Amino acid sequence: RLLARLDCGEDIIVVSNRAPWIHRATPDGIVGERPAGGLVTALEAVLAGQGGCWIAHGSGSADRATCDARGHVLAHHLPGSYRLRRLWLSDAEVAGYYDGLANGALWPLCHRAGVEPRLREADWACYRRVNQRFADAVVAEARSERPVVLVQDYHLALVPAMVRARLPDAVILTFWHIPFPEARTLARFPWRAELMRGLLASTVLGVQTAGDLARLDAARAGMNEPPGGAVARAYPISIAWPVQEPDAVAAAHTRIRNRFKVAPGVRLLLGVDRMDYTKGIVERLRAFALFLQQNPDQAGRVALLQVAAPGRTALAPYRRLDRTVRVLAGRINRRFGRAGYLPVLLHTGGLDAAGVADCYRACDACLVTSLQDGMNLVAKEFVAARADLRGVLVLSRWAGASAELAQALPVDPRDIAALSEAIGAALAMPPGEQGARMAAMRAVVREHTVFRWAARLLEDGMAAQAAVPATAVA
Ligand code: F6P
Repeated sequence: RLLARLDCGEDIIVVSNRAPWIHRATPDGIVGERPAGGLVTALEAVLAGQGGCWIAHGSGSADRATCDARGHVLAHHLPGSYRLRRLWLSDAEVAGYYDGLANGALWPLCHRAGVEPRLREADWACYRRVNQRFADAVVAEARSERPVVLVQDYHLALVPAMVRARLPDAVILTFWHIPFPEARTLARFPWRAELMRGLLASTVLGVQTAGDLARLDAARAGMNEPPGGAVARAYPISIAWPVQEPDAVAAAHTRIRNRFKVAPGVRLLLGVDRMDYTKGIVERLRAFALFLQQNPDQAGRVALLQVAAPGRTALAPYRRLDRTVRVLAGRINRRFGRAGYLPVLLHTGGLDAAGVADCYRACDACLVTSLQDGMNLVAKEFVAARADLRGVLVLSRWAGASAELAQALPVDPRDIAALSEAIGAALAMPPGEQGARMAAMRAVVREHTVFRWAARLLEDGMAAQAAVPATAVA
């Protein structure tokens, strides 16, 4: 309904690194897979309602087999009613643009998590070239002089300026999903002026929180050259409010306890993350170990189920983290485990959306302990899954979600003693208090869905478009 009010003239283009659909070759034939998450749901709804095109990197094993010569996915392979245009990146392009510049340099630069950005001229040159390829695809897909272009994230920071150079009247709505860095941190990035010019060529530049906006404004104010015309605003991203299943909790308990062999009576703490050094997984494990050490009666009564999806493994800090997490989990299990009881259940094998929802429903507390996080949608998904009004959210002060979810138990994840105490407080919280806190957080998430996020961004873009006459007319 929110999106139906908009009229983008059927010329709307989403551009992102990851695609909303990938195709894999399996022994049973080609299967399409849709990554979990609200962003795809919301932007597909925008495209389905308005008509348009999504441009993204094609990385599935059967992606080429499902496309025509120009990279358009053949209609019978695409459930949505929009065009999906895939871009084929070479291994060298992925290494320079995605692993090198986006995740080796920008990601650690933007997250305060103790990993040094790797600043290599060759990676920047590759990033620029690949951004140009995405921008060229946008121009090729545009059906008018004034398309609405939705640019996603830090992989594509130069795309707004590159599109603007070819389509001066385009309505370019860029969303930066990760924390925006402090001016003094950004000052370490040798190509910051070009990066900022790229972003500020947008019509609207969206960030997650008021804090990100303040940092963006400071960085903009510090630029020597004219800063470009982008309207900058905070648009906290969210999830699609799921179908509510109040009776699903008991079934989820049974499934999760069977699947991960959790004995009856053992209470469950939960972590769900990508295996990423920004997520505070090591700190969480240390705090859990401290909790068991300081509360010996709890050994045998509470376990931590840590779901950690591996990724970005071409980069050394990710491989190191994977090793550290496994070693730490093993050490805790040897120290506090016993026959029939493993304190840490580490699951790195991937879990589908239904499996993750089961975990949310089966746990007593969800621990979101990011060292820094743009938003963190796990926090919102957990709250949305608890129609039974039970469960406690322990939430890092450094996650964007903490600005909205005021009834979570706030923690500084670097303070291991305080984190251990928060685990104790979560496990001891009376059901009445759990219910009151959960109800308040659920009201916030139900109201501020990802559809509202998309609608606000598009409405602001439409308003900006209406306010500025087309160059052809002017
Ligand atoms: O947080 C930024 C982000 O791009 C998210 O939108 C997404 O969940 C994640 O990083 C994906 O990382 P990758 O595409 O590298 O697996």
